[in-house]
Amino acid sequence: MKLKLLIVLFFGILVLPLIPEFSFAEYADIILNSKAESMRKAFVNDVMFPHWFHRIRFKCKVCHEDIFILKAGANDINMTMIMNGEKCGKCHNGIIAWEPLYCDRCHSWEPGWTPGPVQFSKKVK
Ligand code: HEC
Ligand code: HEC
Ligand code: HEC
Repeated sequence: MKLKLLIVLFFGILVLPLIPEFSFAEYADIILNSKAESMRKAFVNDVMFPHWFHRIRFKCKVCHEDIFILKAGANDINMTMIMNGEKCGKCHNGIIAWEPLYCDRCHSWEPGWTPGPVQFSKKVK
């Protein structure tokens, strides 16, 4: 009986801290910075897309694949599109969500990281 309890406790301590890592890895936030050069010229940081935040509010189908291809780095996004109501601008239009006027809310990631899900990203500069 005591041994069983010990085993349960042991695995609890060992495994539990790993679980949030797993769900985080599956729905991780994504760094978008293919346009880093233009972003530097406009004095904005790289984009951190809070995937999890959106994923709990919308079904995957809302975005994939009508708005965004389900592959990191596969989407060519720029501000003209967003201002014209495409991509992020489908919702960030002042109706469904706030307008794309608050640059820093999206451009919130320190430059110099490899693009894609944060948990795989590495600092390169
Ligand atoms: C609000 C829009 C939105 C919703 C809702 C959404 N995604 Fe995404 N997803 C994105 C964007 C934007 C990217 C980044 C694509 C890129 O890098 O070009 C992405 C990328 C991905 C990727 C590739 C990157 C990676 O992490 O491997 C996968 C897989 C993915 N989404 C799965 C899902 C699943 C599963 C759901 C539902 C549970 C979901 N998405 C809901 C917008 C969304
Ligand atoms: C399907 C609709 C939809 C799309 C597409 C979408 N968003 Fe959002 N986003 C929302 C909503 C709704 C909120 C919450 C708005 C609020 O709280 O007023 C939000 C909030 C956010 C936030 C703030 C999160 C927080 O923690 O408060 C950021 C940053 C953001 N979006 C970035 C993006 C970026 C970048 C893209 C494109 C890659 C994008 N969104 C595409 C609907 C969308
Ligand atoms: C709703 C989220 C969101 C907001 C708000 C936002 N951006 Fe962006 N922006 C993006 C995304 C996503 C990209 C594409 C990043 C990539 O793929 O490299 C981008 C790309 C850019 C680029 C490079 C591409 C281009 O169009 O030249 C510049 C410059 C830029 N943003 C400036 C701004 C400025 C300035 C503001 C505030 C007025 C702003 N952004 C507000 C999401 C946003």
